[in-house]
Amino acid sequence: MQKLVRLAHISDVHLANVAGFSPRHLNLKRGLGFINWQRKRRFIHLQSTVDLLLEDLRQQEFDHLAVSGDLANLGLPSELEAAATWLKQLGNPSDVSVIPGNHDIYCPLWSDQGTERWQDYMSNLPDVARQAGPSSASGFPYVRRLGDVALIGVNSAVPMPPGIASGQVGMEQLERLQMILFELADEGCFRLVMIHHPPLPGQASKRRALKDAADLQSLIADAGAELIIHGHNHRSMLAHVDGASGAIPVVGVPSFSATYGPKSGELAAYNIYEISEIPSGYSIALEQRGLKRDAEGVMCLRREKISGVMHKQN
Ligand SMILES: [Fe+2]
Ligand SMILES: [Fe+2]
Repeated sequence: MQKLVRLAHISDVHLANVAGFSPRHLNLKRGLGFINWQRKRRFIHLQSTVDLLLEDLRQQEFDHLAVSGDLANLGLPSELEAAATWLKQLGNPSDVSVIPGNHDIYCPLWSDQGTERWQDYMSNLPDVARQAGPSSASGFPYVRRLGDVALIGVNSAVPMPPGIASGQVGMEQLERLQMILFELADEGCFRLVMIHHPPLPGQASKRRALKDAADLQSLIADAGAELIIHGHNHRSMLAHVDGASGAIPVVGVPSFSATYGPKSGELAAYNIYEISEIPSGYSIALEQRGLKRDAEGVMCLRREKISGVMHKQN
């Protein structure tokens, strides 16, 4: 067995720096979001929890860190700026990959650069134009080569009406994603797709779901991938989707900041995936670390093989 990469995965940090906002950025969606933050979310998503988990993460061995969106809450320029500063604390852009979540691209920001502040963490690596057709206007999907593993960052965040947390990949990205997956299969890469929203139909309620999940599912079934990771639901999820070369694991990670409280759901955690090459294909071992009710500190919550034998596509 040859280890290819150890990838750490965090999501839905919801950094707690919502300190009000100027009338310029006030609208119905942000107003409702702010009330929700004041009444509920600020008691759940604590900076102290982020710091605690980060301290534990820094003691682990991993090669690369994937951040699958929702760093902010109301998509305010001040929040996105603070998140950019926080990303620098996590590591260099070559060691950390990010995609936006629905709370990062919350409302149109017009002339503000929005999540482009994080561009260095959301670009192709090495920084070369990919062959898969003309590059998209948004720069997504991007591809980052981590040795024989290719991390493909897909953006599912688009501004939605008040009360709606759904997402959409869109035709342009879907077409490019299909070409990229075929290209990387030809290159013999392990293809790891990162997306904020759960990618399969039925994995989230209608007002929180990916609108084109059925299209994405059939694309994956056709082009194949070896692992899909996501956030958004703030809980551990494991599903499989039939791909061209077998069942592909689809793994959701809890929020990185969720703290115990009367209204909290699953507590803060993060995942580490160890991806290895074995004679018959690939093996993926998952370790989840985080908080546990009525226990102190960060600990290992589970260890399991999420894919024993996966056959390479070519
Ligand atoms: Fe979230
Ligand atoms: Fe989300």
